[in-house]
Amino acid sequence: MSNGSVSPAPVSPLSPNLGDIKPRTPVAKLDRKRYSRSTRRFTIAQVAPLVGMAPSYIKRAIGGKPLLTADDVVELLDQDCYCETFVPRSRVLDYLMSVTDSETAVPVESPVQIPESWALVNADFLSVVGRLPLSSVQCVVTSTPYWGMRIYKESSPITWADGEKSVFGHEQTPEGFLRHTTEILYRLMPALTETGSIWWNLMDTFNTRTQIRGSAVEALRAMQGHDTRRWSEHDYRRYSAGHAYLKDGEQTGIPGLVAQRASRIGYYVKTTITWAKTATLPEPQNSRVSRSLEYILHLSKTRTPKFDKTAYKRLSTGLGGRNPLYETDKLSDVWFIPTSAGGDGHGAQFPLALPARCAGLSTEPGDLVLDPFVGSGNSAVAALSLGRRFLGVDISRRYLTVAEQKITELQSRSQVLAAIDDPGDIIDDPGDIAECASAIAAT
Ligand SMILES: C[S@@+](CC[C@H](N)C(=O)[O-])C[C@H]1O[C@@H](n2cnc3c(N)ncnc32)[C@H](O)[C@@H]1O
Repeated sequence: MSNGSVSPAPVSPLSPNLGDIKPRTPVAKLDRKRYSRSTRRFTIAQVAPLVGMAPSYIKRAIGGKPLLTADDVVELLDQDCYCETFVPRSRVLDYLMSVTDSETAVPVESPVQIPESWALVNADFLSVVGRLPLSSVQCVVTSTPYWGMRIYKESSPITWADGEKSVFGHEQTPEGFLRHTTEILYRLMPALTETGSIWWNLMDTFNTRTQIRGSAVEALRAMQGHDTRRWSEHDYRRYSAGHAYLKDGEQTGIPGLVAQRASRIGYYVKTTITWAKTATLPEPQNSRVSRSLEYILHLSKTRTPKFDKTAYKRLSTGLGGRNPLYETDKLSDVWFIPTSAGGDGHGAQFPLALPARCAGLSTEPGDLVLDPFVGSGNSAVAALSLGRRFLGVDISRRYLTVAEQKITELQSRSQVLAAIDDPGDIIDDPGDIAECASAIAAT
């Protein structure tokens, strides 16, 4: 991968048959005796993110030992304070045994080259995250696939730390999705600088019996009555029965649960931001209110990440500054940002102002912004417009082609190029932004 480039994905197998989602919680429990004779020892740092406890709490619970035995780990799994993070309770010891084995056995893969300006990588982010250089990323801004809502045909199933083999977003249970999201956040930690921020845009899913569609356009067509297929005729379906406690039609609560798990693996949950959308798809349900929001979790590694609140007032509205129609001078936790028109076939894309606000608040010119699920590239346009460097990853070559076009279009605008070449200059002239936005819309 070189500077300002798109690097190809390794040859991958044919699109997997993603299949139906049946949220049937497996019955599995911890085998307390299995490792009781093991002579293996674990550091508190290894154990803490798996039991969801702070190292200081573990010292209190176990008595200040520098190394923990398998029995100590079982004792932690029995504490009232215990909460699953990215491996279920029944597999925590298996996981600890396997990672401490592999730390010595697996050769380190070649690191990802950090671009001087921008780069797009066509790959599964899980194959990239472990290759990011330590402390190289100042800001992650991303919108991940939602649980059980969308088919991304380019995805291939991967085997996760919890043992489930699935495509990200297509897990059998919401807990699977929570574990996998937490695993990604955990694996991102070493690459994030000490003052870095993660802005994780996500939405909830209702535990309903539904078809899983390939795009928002397809969903809209169905709501308008243009899809006459019966339930059984759909390629991908989500069922609702069999979960340990969720009932049919209930909200799963994924965003809050991701925030809790992020905190338990060591992040600071700085804020849960509500993105109040000004236009949303119609919803046919008559027994609940319609949704008009998404969430953005602001996470950091330290209590005081790099944060420039003045960017909210300095930047143009198009690049994440105050929206004069709905927002006051106070930067609050409710963001009014119009949804993107999604005219380039993605259908679930960021409005430019959203990643721009996140990057503007938490980075300086020259800092590296990463989007692990970059899609059609609005986070790239946002970062580069602000004079930041950018690295984007996506499994879809089709979306990356759109992203590359947008970046090329942006770079062909001389004023914007000047800003990229001359770090320190934030583009905040509404005229420039309008020009860029129309160029982007035209691609
Ligand atoms: C919600 S969309 C992101 C949209 C993006 N923010 C934009 O403005 O276009 C999620 C994206 O994640 C990509 N994706 C899904 N699974 C992935 C994976 N395992 N690794 C990398 N990208 C993935 C999809 O192709 C899709 O483009």
